[in-house]
Amino acid sequence: MRKPIILAIESSCDDTCAAVIRGNNILANVISGQEVHGDYGGVVPELASRAHQKNIMPVVESTLLQAGIDKSGLDAVAFTQGPGLVGALLVGASFAKGLAGALGIPLIAVHHLHAHLFSHYIDPPRPAFPFLCLLASGGHTQLTKLDGPLNYETIGRTTDDAAGEALDKAAKVLGLPYPGGPWIDHWARKGNPEKFSFPQPSTGNLDFSFSGLKTSLLYFVRDGLAKDKHFIQNHLPDICASYQETVVDYLLLKLKQAIRETGIHEVGIAGGVAANSLLRKKSGELARIYGWKIFVPEFQYCTDNAAMIAKVASYKFREKQFAGHSSTPFAR
Ligand code: KG4
Ligand code: ZN
Repeated sequence: MRKPIILAIESSCDDTCAAVIRGNNILANVISGQEVHGDYGGVVPELASRAHQKNIMPVVESTLLQAGIDKSGLDAVAFTQGPGLVGALLVGASFAKGLAGALGIPLIAVHHLHAHLFSHYIDPPRPAFPFLCLLASGGHTQLTKLDGPLNYETIGRTTDDAAGEALDKAAKVLGLPYPGGPWIDHWARKGNPEKFSFPQPSTGNLDFSFSGLKTSLLYFVRDGLAKDKHFIQNHLPDICASYQETVVDYLLLKLKQAIRETGIHEVGIAGGVAANSLLRKKSGELARIYGWKIFVPEFQYCTDNAAMIAKVASYKFREKQFAGHSSTPFAR
């Protein structure tokens, strides 16, 4: 039987992404970042929508070209329905609806967070079900239990900032470029994580909270600058290392708690923060000690991408879970 070919589009935040999947294989995965936000220290929704409008045609064209697929060969078009920035999502959704309508093929709506969980199933080794996933990105931090491909339950989530946001906001305080997570990771490698101490958030259940930690860094830097106007320059690696370690240890503490409570030992880490070198190192060490099987996707599948949207879409296609043209994007 011919394997279905699906074009997937992801436009929930500040990356315009497209991918083509045939059966289980990703044929092309294109990500076009938006540099316009760098000067603002965060994503500006209106600028993101405009950049998506400009990028979407060339991104889709180059994805089809790389995949060696003509649009007449597509069996469905998938798009990210939410959560995300509504204006940005609308660009991808409208494009997908227009293309699917013109070609007379089904439309598939995908939940962005479901797709991040699926980044573990793009390439082998793939985790078995039941599977526990720590998803930590710029917009989300949550612990989710997957019993099957289309059957999952979130058992813990952040009550305020996301882990990536806690890193990005800290980087902004330290004068580092946006997005700051990779910069903190970079400077932390040269620093001593024991040098300074930040209060680890305490939440008894499986939920997360990062806003107190972020505020403690703000006060710490303010007090340091009052004594030494070059405080940041003089201590940047140690501040980054100490702050990053607090964030990573907290994420792993909650993951450990979730593993204990669910008894699931197939464990994944997904989302942009999964690219963090300390999180990768420490989770690998814990896995060896406790006998967990740990899965971290390839870097291009950790941050926002359309391959993960395509992966969910291929399951939904098999189950004939199609969306109507009246389906609308949602922010949360
Ligand atoms: O998944 P993602 O691309 O987008 C969202 O859905 O939010 O995640 C982006 C987040 C940003 O907060 C960014 O700072 C963080 O992932 N990030 C990192 C690293 N690379 C990206 N955080 C820590 N260390 C990294 N190496
Ligand atoms: Zn994301």
